[in-house]
Amino acid sequence: AGNRTFSMIKPHAVADNHIGGILKLMEEGGFRIVAMKKTQLSAQQAGKFYEVHSERPFYGELCEMMSAGPIVALILEKENAVADFRKLIGATDPAEAEPGTIRSIYAKSKGENAVHGSDSDENAAIESAFFFSGFERY
Ligand code: CMP
Repeated sequence: AGNRTFSMIKPHAVADNHIGGILKLMEEGGFRIVAMKKTQLSAQQAGKFYEVHSERPFYGELCEMMSAGPIVALILEKENAVADFRKLIGATDPAEAEPGTIRSIYAKSKGENAVHGSDSDENAAIESAFFFSGFERY
């Protein structure tokens, strides 16, 4: 049991064959995979997913990067899921990510930072519904 967060394995990490390595760290970190899907976003869909960042200077680059290849979307469950998952993935900038975190191992830059993790319970629910229908979330 516990609550849920939403994650994506980003295109560069999928292209570099790191799906398995990243899922292993998620499971070893105590997260149960509730739902999982490999798919590719259009630039327009990436723009919608990251709408909250639309005023940021890196928005265009972000949408281009997130639609450059397939991603893996996940709903993960654990006690205190949102905060604990952000601890497991580490800081946005891999140079600042703690050793052993997913980003310290797999991120290439602030943009190509291997994985996404929701920043609140509210956004976890919104982001999960973006990718998964109700009957897929069990
Ligand atoms: P994510 O956790 O998916 O949420 C927003 C994303 O924007 C972030 O990970 C990065 O991929 C990207 N991002 C954040 N800051 C920067 C930056 N300074 N330059 C480029 N991309 C960024």
